[in-house]
Amino acid sequence: MSHLSHIEGYAIAHDRLWFGGVDTVDLAHRFGTPLWVINEDLARDKCRRYVSSFARAEVPATVAYAGKAFLTTSFCRLLAEEGMGLDVCSGGELATARAAGFPMDRVLFHGNNKSADELRLALEMGVARIVVDNLHELHLLDRLAGEAGKVQPILVRVTPGVNTHTHSHIQTGHLDTKFGFGIENGLAAAAVARTRELVHVRLLGLHCHIGSQLFDLSCYRAAVGIVVAFLAEVRAFLPNDAALELDLGGGLGIRYTAEDHPPSIEEYVATLIEATRRETAAHGLPMPRLWIEPGRSIIAPAGLTLYTVGAVKPIPGIRTYVAVDGSMADHPRTALYGAVYSAVLANKAGRPPRQTYAVAGKACESGDMIIHQAWLSDVEPGDVLAVFCTGAYHYAMSSNYNRLPRPAVVGLTGGQARLRVRRETYEDLLRHDLLSDGE
Ligand code: LLP
Repeated sequence: MSHLSHIEGYAIAHDRLWFGGVDTVDLAHRFGTPLWVINEDLARDKCRRYVSSFARAEVPATVAYAGKAFLTTSFCRLLAEEGMGLDVCSGGELATARAAGFPMDRVLFHGNNKSADELRLALEMGVARIVVDNLHELHLLDRLAGEAGKVQPILVRVTPGVNTHTHSHIQTGHLDTKFGFGIENGLAAAAVARTRELVHVRLLGLHCHIGSQLFDLSCYRAAVGIVVAFLAEVRAFLPNDAALELDLGGGLGIRYTAEDHPPSIEEYVATLIEATRRETAAHGLPMPRLWIEPGRSIIAPAGLTLYTVGAVKPIPGIRTYVAVDGSMADHPRTALYGAVYSAVLANKAGRPPRQTYAVAGKACESGDMIIHQAWLSDVEPGDVLAVFCTGAYHYAMSSNYNRLPRPAVVGLTGGQARLRVRRETYEDLLRHDLLSDGE
């Protein structure tokens, strides 16, 4: 279908939508709806493209998947099998990695307010790198590492001040941000110098992340230029040539709609490598070991959400609302960021679209929209709606708003569907509630 030309991993057969070699209408019947579906073969393919792009260029690097986009124990296993690293940003993500037996020497720990407990856990588990975000954390980590009898390898997070063109909530590289140390205002230089005075942390290099859902590679070139120039300035505080590291964060955009034209994984990695080579050579620095932290570009296109249509409500002269059995609780990005999605009726996938519908969730607020203008064939109650590209930041940001139980997650591998996270029950919702005096 031409209006789905930007979607990967799907096929249409017998008027039904297939994804990852599986009939999605069967999935809806077998596992119920709403249902988060992850095409694990597609996610693996993205991981391989990242890893092999560095291997082909013979650049030592760790591709640390950003767990914040979507993390489960089974997905940690998949990442480990693909030789990926993992970027975690909370004790919960660390605990998930540990439960999956993820190799800690490929884990990097982020966050602008890591608690003492989280830092202790990271030290105890032996994570490869802790990305230090502020001075409070630097001193706290030094003390806790001392108590644990360790010297923790760290990177210092810097903000290069690059302005990207993305939603302001997911913009991170500019100066007025809660993350990291500014380069321009001298805070980064002071932080790097401070690491010299501490004996339980070992500075290996720098980290920067300039934003998310980015299409413009020139932003990355600009960031590399600024960060490498800074690296040259503070070289005296950094380790010898072989150990030098640079983490360029994540952020590569994906095609939510046919109008989105992000660069490919290969173009993106090649740009990072080329810019780093050029800038380090210009400053007489060795090529550092690289880290990157892609999240969305690995998991977003690999996910779709299946819903069952309930009410279909035409408002004459205005629009027709289609209400589905999920909501902003399982699909928050439309309400939060005004994100735009494509969809198809999975049980009528061979039929051409006829009109636009407003796809609404079932939560009690008007902002609870899944898609404002979905181009679909004739919708009837009972149809199965598939919303594409929902793999990133939906399961991960889901809630129990309106006391709605979270859907299940099903993984598709080699044409087989496996339950990866079971559907929440009302019992799950009530599990932590206490009546008076904790009865
Ligand atoms: N590294 C760091 C330090 C990050 O903060 C992020 C995302 C990533 C890597 C991964 O970025 P990605 O490759 O996924 O773009 N909830 C928002 C996105 C927030 C991104 C937060 N940081 C959304 O749904 O668009």
